[in-house]
Amino acid sequence: MLIKQNPNGVERPFASEITPREVFESRRQFIQQLALGTIAGSALLEMATREAFAQSASSQKLATKRNATYVLMDKPTDYKDATGYNNFYEFGTDKTDPVRYAGSLRTSQWTVAIEGEVNKPQVIDIDGLRKLAPLEERIYRLRCVEGWSMVIPWVGYSLSELIKKVEPNGNARYIEFTTLADKPQMPGLGSPVLDWPYVEGLRLDEAKHPLTLLALGMYGEVLPNQNGAPVRVVVPWKYGFKSAKSIVKIRFTRDQPKTAWNLAAPGEYGFYANVNPGVDHPRWSQSSERRIGEDSFFTRKRKTLMFNGYGEVTSLYAGMDLRKLY
Ligand code: MTE
Repeated sequence: MLIKQNPNGVERPFASEITPREVFESRRQFIQQLALGTIAGSALLEMATREAFAQSASSQKLATKRNATYVLMDKPTDYKDATGYNNFYEFGTDKTDPVRYAGSLRTSQWTVAIEGEVNKPQVIDIDGLRKLAPLEERIYRLRCVEGWSMVIPWVGYSLSELIKKVEPNGNARYIEFTTLADKPQMPGLGSPVLDWPYVEGLRLDEAKHPLTLLALGMYGEVLPNQNGAPVRVVVPWKYGFKSAKSIVKIRFTRDQPKTAWNLAAPGEYGFYANVNPGVDHPRWSQSSERRIGEDSFFTRKRKTLMFNGYGEVTSLYAGMDLRKLY
C-alpha cells in the first residue's frame, strides 16, 4: 500500500476454469522446458514461486463443499496470479516478495489465542480450527485499496462459528486480529514501514456477519504461506488490508482496536475501509479497478462497486457518514 503508483463478468466459474495446481506446479515439465530454452525471463520468478510452494505445506488438500450462496459470476483468478502477486509486508513490500520469501514461514504447531471479553478464552490449534465447523468453498472478490482485484475460491467457514464457541460477553464490541511477527521467519520485519505486528480489527457485528470468513485454504488446499497460512480472515466488502493474514491472536475488546495501517497513515486508511467507489483515496481514485489477469493493454478497467458488490452488508452502516468514517 506504499504504492506511488463491465461490472462483473458474465461467465460462470466452473472448477475447470481454475488453473489446476498440478498443471502449474508440474515441476519436471517446467525444468524440461527451461532446458529446451522455451522459457526465459519470467521463468526465474516462476521457479522461485515453485520453490516457495515446495517449502510450504500447501499441497495438502482440504475436503470442502462449495457453498452455493457464495458463488460469483466472475471467473476465478488463475492460481499462479493469486499466489504470485501478493501483499504480505512481513516478507517485503514488492508484490513478488511474498512468493519468494514466505517459504521460511513455519506453519506447523500453530495456535491462535482467543482472549479478552469472552466467557471462554482459549487457545486453538489449526487442527481444532479445521474441525470447528464444516469447511466450505466460497468464491469472493478481493479488492485491494491500491486499485486491483482478484476472485478467489477460499476454503473456510463464517468467523461467526468461532465467535459463538468462545461466547463474547456484554462488553465485547470489537474484535482485534494480531498476526505473526517473528523476525527470523519474516525478513520484511526489518523495515519500519509498519509498526509490527500487523493488527487489524472489525466491529463485532461486522465480524459476525456471515460473509466474514475464517479462511484456512484456497483453491481446495491449505493456504499457501504467501496468502496468509495457516489461518487468515477474509472480509470481502472491505479493502484487502482488513483481511489479516497468519493470525496468532484474536482479542475481543470494548474499544476500537488500533490497527496497523490506520496508525501508519490515518488520513489514507480508515478503520472501516469499506470498498467505496465514491470516496477516493487522497492520492488516487477508487472508482475503478484492474482485475489481475486481465492486464492486456486493451482491457478496460472494471467499475468498482459499493461494498465490492456485497450490498447485503448495507444495513450494518445505517445512519453512518461513510465519507467521514472511511
Ligand atoms: N496481512 C498481513 N499480516 N500483512 C500484510 O501485509 N496485507 C493486506 C492483507 N493482509 C497484509 C495482510 C493487503 S494490503 C491485502 S490487499 C491482502 O492481504 C492481500 O491478500 P492476498 O495476497 O492473499 O491477495
